[in-house]
Amino acid sequence: MARIPEAFIRELLDRTDIVGVIEGYVPLRRAGANYLARCPFHNEKTPSFTVSPTKQFYHCFGCGAHGTALTFLMEHAGLSFVDAVHELAGRVGLRVPEEAAPARPEDDRRERLLAVLAQADQFYRQTLRSSVQAIDYLKGRGLTGKSAARFGLGYAPDEWQGLARAFTDYQDPLLEAAGLVIVGEQGRRYDRFRGRVMFPIRNERGQVIGFGGRVVGVGEPKYLNSPETPVFAKGRELYGLHEARRAIQQAGEVVVVEGYMDVVMLAQQGVDNAVATLGTAVTDEQVRRLMRLADSIVFAFDGDAAGRKAAWRALENSLAQLPDGKRVAFLFLPEGEDPDSYVRRHGATAWRQLLADAIPLSDYLVDTLSRRTELGSQEGRVKLIKLAEPYLRQMTQAPLLAGALRRRLAELTGLPAGSRGYAARTGPTPSPARPPRVRPSPWRTALLAVLHDPGLASNVDVTPEGPNTEAQLLQAVLDILQANPHLASTRDVIEAFRGRPEQPALQRLAAELLALGEGYDAAADLRAALERIRQQARRREVELLSRKPLAELSPEEQQRLRASLRGRKPVSAADVKGPDA
Ligand code: UTP
Ligand code: MN
Repeated sequence: MARIPEAFIRELLDRTDIVGVIEGYVPLRRAGANYLARCPFHNEKTPSFTVSPTKQFYHCFGCGAHGTALTFLMEHAGLSFVDAVHELAGRVGLRVPEEAAPARPEDDRRERLLAVLAQADQFYRQTLRSSVQAIDYLKGRGLTGKSAARFGLGYAPDEWQGLARAFTDYQDPLLEAAGLVIVGEQGRRYDRFRGRVMFPIRNERGQVIGFGGRVVGVGEPKYLNSPETPVFAKGRELYGLHEARRAIQQAGEVVVVEGYMDVVMLAQQGVDNAVATLGTAVTDEQVRRLMRLADSIVFAFDGDAAGRKAAWRALENSLAQLPDGKRVAFLFLPEGEDPDSYVRRHGATAWRQLLADAIPLSDYLVDTLSRRTELGSQEGRVKLIKLAEPYLRQMTQAPLLAGALRRRLAELTGLPAGSRGYAARTGPTPSPARPPRVRPSPWRTALLAVLHDPGLASNVDVTPEGPNTEAQLLQAVLDILQANPHLASTRDVIEAFRGRPEQPALQRLAAELLALGEGYDAAADLRAALERIRQQARRREVELLSRKPLAELSPEEQQRLRASLRGRKPVSAADVKGPDA
């Protein structure tokens, strides 16, 4: 596939006004330097969706959605990257160059894996039509043909090399890479999925990225899932999200269940807003994705020990993702039921009743922790507070809820407010828009500065080596900027990281820039940050050197140690060059 040159994309974004693009979908009103709207990515009453014409960037302070004009077209209008580029090009009257350089190998590989998976999907679906046994099995479980078609269910024939009928080259290594074929000892190849009802797993764009296969009848394992591949990450994807997206946005709520069949049967009964995890614990990334679509997430798990354990993991991975004003709740099904059996037996109305009674995260947290302690004794009550604190501290996006929980725990334990600062915030709670200010790390400060004004990067020749991810991120940004001095704006930097793992973090940082006032002086901030980085490096060095006996230090090390102890800058630490450098 032809690849669109990055230079073209930059030119395209240079000529595009993000305000005009977004205005086509969302009514914006001017507010100071920025534009404001009710966020199109989540339900809200007061506008927190901000568009910056100077940064050519949008950010929602409610749900965290953010990006460039391209991102907006992809995430809001649902266009593919290529379609979004064409859409923008059409607006500004540019022609998209098609003769482009060959695709990056990894993109090309993704495309080919997706093509292989799509072909297998076609084959499995085709096969189901003529498999009496599989059809009978699904009918026996109460599934209609319409539901099977809606979720694209298929059947993998009970043969060692069934897929040989679907692919001209069964030896193609891509079949193995896609997780469809297993290469055994002596290089013998065979189908991973045999004699199974196939549930295609799609990404949000609807492309098949993997499968879950259920045995027809009894057998082990009951479900077999695709392995992780370059296109399929279990911790990220959710079964049924593509199909449920609209219903989730309409309802403002998503229900997370454990099984494929639960999703399909709920949908058949008219409950369209359910998705399933893929046989693994709920991850924070999954929660984050769902938070952007809905105001309420309900985890519906079995009432047994395994279900409780899964629910607790879900709670742990939700705390940091939950913003004030949104809701996470837990629903435990009666003994022996799962959503599939429950909704089939009792119907959608009874299911909705169960949902309405779901336990809010805060209750679930307090209940569970209380059970782990003896509230009858003073020691037990103190322990409850100790147990709760790490959880509360993770609720950085929900200071109001965390505050309410602190007060509740203070009441429950009778421990006086203010003991070691505990529950000290029982007065007016800080506004969620202004979380308590902590001094950002120097790496973060430096990152913000070079994101704000990428031109500053050319002056930095200090190695921001540090023990943390921010230092690594700063290094990555400096590397890219120093190799590509033409990248001139926040947006250019973000786009240069498209598809790289650093991009989400950079977008969050860029969003912070929107909140900085007129007086922001990036160059001064950068200078100060680099000075702090140098100081920290020096301190680390002194610490390391002074732990060694003086006699073991080389003369040069001794000199450095002495210089450091006198507070002088070691000669070798190069830094920001002056304007004349
Ligand atoms: P369950 O065992 O609860 O199955 O596993 P289920 O969804 O009720 O299945 P049916 O109704 O018997 O068909 C719940 C989920 O856990 C994963 C699957 O994603 C399944 O949908 N699982 C379960 C596996 O990945 N492998 C297994 O062997 C079993
Ligand atoms: Mn079941």
